[in-house]
Amino acid sequence: MKSFYITTAIDYVNGSPHLGHAYEKVLVDVIARFRRLMGDKVFFLTGTDEHGQKVQMSARKRGIPAQQFVDATAAEFRALYDRLHVSYDDFIRTTEERHQRVVREILQRLFDKGEIYRAEYRGFYSTRQEQFLLEKDRLPDGSWPEIFGEVTEIIEPNYFFKLRSYQDWLVGHLKAHEDFIFPRFRQKQVLEFLKEPLNDLCISRPRERLEWGIPLPFDEAFVTYVWFDALVNYVSGVWGDGGPRAELWPADFHVIGKDILVPPHAVYWPIMLHAAGYEPPQALLVHGWWLLKSGQKMSKSTGEVVNPLDLIERFGTDAFRYFLVREMNVGQDSEFSLELFLSRYNSDLANDLGNLVNRTLNMSARYAGGVVPAAGTVGDPERELQALWERTRDEAIRLCEGFQFHSALERAFVFIKAINAYIEKRAPWKLAKSADPADQALLQTSLATMAEALRLGVTLLAPVTPATTEKVYAALGHQSAPQWQDELRWGERLTGARLQPGLVLFPRPEPAT
Ligand code: ME8
Ligand code: MG
Repeated sequence: MKSFYITTAIDYVNGSPHLGHAYEKVLVDVIARFRRLMGDKVFFLTGTDEHGQKVQMSARKRGIPAQQFVDATAAEFRALYDRLHVSYDDFIRTTEERHQRVVREILQRLFDKGEIYRAEYRGFYSTRQEQFLLEKDRLPDGSWPEIFGEVTEIIEPNYFFKLRSYQDWLVGHLKAHEDFIFPRFRQKQVLEFLKEPLNDLCISRPRERLEWGIPLPFDEAFVTYVWFDALVNYVSGVWGDGGPRAELWPADFHVIGKDILVPPHAVYWPIMLHAAGYEPPQALLVHGWWLLKSGQKMSKSTGEVVNPLDLIERFGTDAFRYFLVREMNVGQDSEFSLELFLSRYNSDLANDLGNLVNRTLNMSARYAGGVVPAAGTVGDPERELQALWERTRDEAIRLCEGFQFHSALERAFVFIKAINAYIEKRAPWKLAKSADPADQALLQTSLATMAEALRLGVTLLAPVTPATTEKVYAALGHQSAPQWQDELRWGERLTGARLQPGLVLFPRPEPAT
């Protein structure tokens, strides 16, 4: 049976991870968790991109061997994703033997099929930046910017992959698969890009200029261009007998940022696969950027970043995950600021959810000896809350299926607020003072209702804040059912459960210093 196979981009390890990297891994984790909860078999691959010029340069700057450098930075990325509870099934590093072997196998295969040829590459080269420049790098007066130092035109032999001969195939494929790229408007951008003729892709770098790469199997004087190497991770990570494993391939989604759609993922990758005799992935899911208030993209190269570890340290993993998913409309850009973070934290997590948990636990302790009573007769407020729950759940699931996680969370918090409003309406503290048996019955009903509604609310949050869901379950004395769909049904499974007296979920943050 085919599993749901989803991947993230693999991060360049030329610097430390920032909020943008963390976001993408959390987003894919939310999708993976959601699909698992919905009953799918899921395989989730992430990893690190470790070759190339930038890495070689960063290692040299620090005066350490490239391998030592990537071992340290790759470990940093992985530690962050573990800290973020990213539930990947495998973590691939492009310096691993299992990956290098597959890159070489695919290169050899394409070479044997005549898809790769040797030719002269001509271009303007900056020795200071150790890179070829493009016409668009020139200043308006035609000269090269200062940062490039001396620029010389050089001609060197290289190997080229016949991209152009597959251009028509790719256009046809995109037209036949309208859902290849989410959001759809990006598919149009790719088709627009493909209106111009493609150049064949230079897939080699002479070893005397770049050592840090995978040697070409048919000419060891060259290493593989880093994009050709990196893209292959999506198959090398799930390699079986002579190809990607049949129960996983084609991948359901490669999730990437908008900066790496055209040309690498939308053009090179499908063509590489097709030319090598493999199926292209089913779809690409393209997210936007986290921007700083200045409108700048967070980027390792400029050093303008938000360090996720600082936020996790101060607010916890789930608060961080919640913020990212609640604030970003998948596909669009979003602005990061600490004020926004704090306002979400305080209003949604500390107030709406945190208070609900505490009221539920405290009132049950005070009025029912810490045990969830059986619900007696229900009235309109209970019926309304239950009806709202059913709408919320159905809408949230539909929204998650369409990657509208921010809206699904918004709905979930409308429900959580409604539970708080329900408590205000029933006012158990007043009922508790009444000697009327009808009021006493209503007290039991209200305690049972708030506990059940809280259980449902945090069940819906499970893909985004899994540790919080578990903590609230434990506080409610609840053993989760094996089926999430069952868990999402309003019922009486908490009757008789013994509650913990209290739970601090999202403490008020210390004022920033
Ligand atoms: O591109 N906001 O690596 P990378 C949101 N190694 N997402 C962001 C972001 C931001 N400010 N900055 C980066 C690479 N990203 C290649 C990928 S895949 C075979 C090779 C996203 O470390 C970016 O869009 O520069 C990409 O999807 C991922 O982080 C890794 O970026
Ligand atoms: Mg980048």
